[in-house]
Amino acid sequence: TAKRRLAPADIKALKGERPIVSLTAYTTPVAKLMDQHVDFMLVGDSLGMVLYGLDSTVGVTLEMMIAHGQAVMRGSSNACVVVDLPFGSYQQSKEQAFATAARVLKETGCSAIKLEGGAEMAETVHFLTQRGIPVLGHVGLMPQLINTTGGYRSLGRNDKEVDKIRKDAAAIDDAGAFAIVIEGTVEPLAREITGAVKVPTIGIGASPACDGQVLVVDDVLGIFTDFKPRFVKHFANLAPLMSEAFATYAQEVKARSFPGPEHTFQLKKG
Ligand code: KIV
Ligand code: NA
Repeated sequence: TAKRRLAPADIKALKGERPIVSLTAYTTPVAKLMDQHVDFMLVGDSLGMVLYGLDSTVGVTLEMMIAHGQAVMRGSSNACVVVDLPFGSYQQSKEQAFATAARVLKETGCSAIKLEGGAEMAETVHFLTQRGIPVLGHVGLMPQLINTTGGYRSLGRNDKEVDKIRKDAAAIDDAGAFAIVIEGTVEPLAREITGAVKVPTIGIGASPACDGQVLVVDDVLGIFTDFKPRFVKHFANLAPLMSEAFATYAQEVKARSFPGPEHTFQLKKG
């Protein structure tokens, strides 16, 4: 029998067993390459910045998320696939969130969604999880709030921030999320939350104390190199390889050395 794809419940069950491995994925070929190596792929709304050149995630649409969710599902058969709900598609009410999330599950075939928010989103997370939609939470730095928070700096450096993030994580845990992303948070707080919640914490810029890690795939591959935040590690350095390939192609076209005879169709003789 064919091996089934990991489910959100499988991700949840990894807490205390071994660290959980995740990366963002946006396209079929990249999903294929990472499918056997990650527990879940996140079709993150970071695609707005990574693929579309937007300067925040606020402009990302539900149509973009569905199209890329479908692409990642086509390229994977092992990893669990989680699709981000974009800004404006879930914050208005729990009913709006359910309608959006249901559409994402039906149109992509993915098994879970992620939404940003703490205590203020707990009722929504409960509503979805009680109605058949597994939810990955996301607390700490929340990029969709850029217009009210005004920055991407790490949080948890004063009592007020610590208290808010602690309460946010507890609320999303109690609401029934199967795991919680913690973004941009100091290590002691990430460790405390990880010890306090029932479900796995998935860190990005949130220390090795979390139950798992997620990174943006273009950062891991060294494709996006305009700047490198402290929490990013380039596990490969593809940018110079790509530039070199483009330069060599341009040179060969101009020199008429590409295409060569082996790339050229001829009429058969005789
Ligand atoms: O959109 C994204 O890529 C994310 C993570 C990196 C957690 O939300
Ligand atoms: Na996101």
